[in-house]
Amino acid sequence: MQTPAVYGVGDASYQAAGGFEGLQRLTRDFYALMDQLPEATALRSLHGSDLSISQDKLACFLSGWLGGPRRFSEKYGSIAIPSFHARWPIDESLSQSWLTCMAQAIARQPYAPEFAEYLLAQLRVPAERIVQASRNRHANAAD
Ligand code: HEM
Repeated sequence: MQTPAVYGVGDASYQAAGGFEGLQRLTRDFYALMDQLPEATALRSLHGSDLSISQDKLACFLSGWLGGPRRFSEKYGSIAIPSFHARWPIDESLSQSWLTCMAQAIARQPYAPEFAEYLLAQLRVPAERIVQASRNRHANAAD
């Protein structure tokens, strides 16, 4: 019997996502969905017209975040996800749109069901931190 991969240990998650090629497919599908889904219109409008750089940046970020090569810091420098996003007023509704696009993009990948569920649950953590950081920043700005 095969021992199940322990996601989050070493590069198990990166491998389960299909390595960098897998992450490129995931993030291409994610931004294509953001471009198409009516419920993502407000989220889409925060982005520039060309999504290809956003797509590369997200694939590079997820590479390191899932235990693979730290492509984002090598190519683009360091990033703190919550404070980077705090420039925009990101509420629960925008966060939910982002997670909806991601859930549908994940569903299009040939991932094991356990990994699909794990990945989405992991992504809810930074999504929630983004909402909190944005709320703090914009609440202070209104003082
Ligand atoms: C919570 C909902 C989220 C919203 C509304 C959101 C929105 C955005 C926006 C508007 C940009 C800029 C895109 C551009 O320049 O065209 C961006 C960039 C980015 N986002 Fe998010 N995002 C969210 C969640 C996340 C999460 C959970 C992650 C990581 C797991 C993430 C990772 C990134 C990265 C790596 C970039 C590129 C950073 C850069 O330009 O240097 N985002 N996001």
